[in-house]
Amino acid sequence: MSTKKLNRGRREFVSKSSKAIALLSFAPTFSLATNKKGKEKIRLVLVGTGVRGLHSWGITLVDPYAEYIEMVGLCDINKKRAEVVKKMIGTKAKTYHSSEFDQMIKEQNPDMAIVTTKDSVHVDYIVRAMELGCDVISEKPIATDEMQCQRILDAEKKNGRKVYVGFNVRYSNDSIEMKRVLDSGEIGKIISIEYQEYLNTAHGASYFRRWHGKSKYSGSLFVHKSSHHFDLINWLLNADPVEVRAMGKLSFYGSNNEFRGKNCRNCEYVDQCDFYWDITKNQEFMKLYVDCETVDHYYRDGCVWDDEIDSPDSGSVLVQYDNGTQLNYSLNAYLPYEGQKISFSGEKGRLDVRLYYDQPWLDEVKSEFRLTTDRKTTRSWVIYPDKGEHGGADVRIKDNFFKPDQEDAIGQRAGSRAGVLSSIIGIAALKSIKSGKPVKIKDLIKL
Ligand SMILES: NC(=O)c1ccc[n+]([C@@H]2O[C@H](COP(=O)([O-])OP(=O)(O)OC[C@H]3O[C@@H](n4cnc5c(N)ncnc54)[C@H](O)[C@@H]3O)[C@@H](O)[C@H]2O)c1
Repeated sequence: MSTKKLNRGRREFVSKSSKAIALLSFAPTFSLATNKKGKEKIRLVLVGTGVRGLHSWGITLVDPYAEYIEMVGLCDINKKRAEVVKKMIGTKAKTYHSSEFDQMIKEQNPDMAIVTTKDSVHVDYIVRAMELGCDVISEKPIATDEMQCQRILDAEKKNGRKVYVGFNVRYSNDSIEMKRVLDSGEIGKIISIEYQEYLNTAHGASYFRRWHGKSKYSGSLFVHKSSHHFDLINWLLNADPVEVRAMGKLSFYGSNNEFRGKNCRNCEYVDQCDFYWDITKNQEFMKLYVDCETVDHYYRDGCVWDDEIDSPDSGSVLVQYDNGTQLNYSLNAYLPYEGQKISFSGEKGRLDVRLYYDQPWLDEVKSEFRLTTDRKTTRSWVIYPDKGEHGGADVRIKDNFFKPDQEDAIGQRAGSRAGVLSSIIGIAALKSIKSGKPVKIKDLIKL
């Protein structure tokens, strides 16, 4: 994408966000865990040293934010990977095996634990870190079943600590723009939302090569992936989900193929398989995963046709909110292109948002907005992402968490309640798919 386009997008974004920015100057400031234990910098430990830990909470955190934070421990079930990541980040933090988590907290006395393990075990580290006196930043999804959700809410209350969730989507230019338009009241009270998530056969398939395609580890894609989208809607509406109905199916990956192997490198079907992926071409993945395989047998180039894959790769979820809004959401993970289409229908008009990502026939990543307030009045404009991971969102979330005296005028900093209310929609959706019945949120968790 050209710098010119980025700059134009930024200017447009800034002018359209003037209302939100004006609000910022009146917002109270906030410093996360700062000097809780009388120290100058926030002491951090990271548990789960995979690619997300390495980049978003490692390389782009430890050095760039060195004025505010100090990484003092790295922990993983595969200690070899923690050691590789230590080198890649270039930190002096001590490495620990996951069985030494308590010892790490005792020795390093951190203020916060950042949890970036596979989804199904987030809960164990979130709860234990709080019991040992730390606050927590957890990657999404905060939890993969309703018991885990409840454990986290109860532990936070009991231990008087705080859990934050890495909902970076809230910090993207298009999400901020949606928030600005909806909060302006131009389309009035929102009656219904249509939200379509499109994942292509590169990005979509990447989930089915790993633990993400197995519900016991990820809660299904409706939890792992869609928790971002459900959180976005919960946040934009400022409302709570009350009932979920869903239909979904594993229609493309998993057992939907005649042949399968264990992983691409050792597969006898390399020439026949459209999904053959050569991990040896990615030097970072070779060091991070392949060189560490003997320890935990985690094959990063697993087979997308694995029979144990059980997460739906397509489906629709209907959500009823406590303010009367209805969400009609769908996800498909085997499409020829990526993107999203989101439409908000209000009492006074409609906002249509079309997000284009990674489409080879378009020379730019962009989001088209169209606001229609009556049968004659419509206007459209375009928002572009900023530079950096996830369109600049990953830098903003870190600024918000770690720079002192941060403002949070539009409420982007998400806590455990938001984490739980996004995961629980996906959890309820999977239950509804299995039972064929609607699921009430109050039957799953007590907030
Ligand atoms: N917010 C975002 O945009 C975003 C993007 C990517 C990933 N994520 C989240 O980050 C987390 C990590 O994703 P990833 O892509 O790095 O996955 P990954 O599989 O590459 O890394 C996960 C790490 O957790 C470790 N692990 C597994 N079980 C463990 C256990 N019991 N105890 C300690 N460590 C354990 C693995 O060894 C691995 O190093 C996931 O929760 C994912 O949802 C968020």
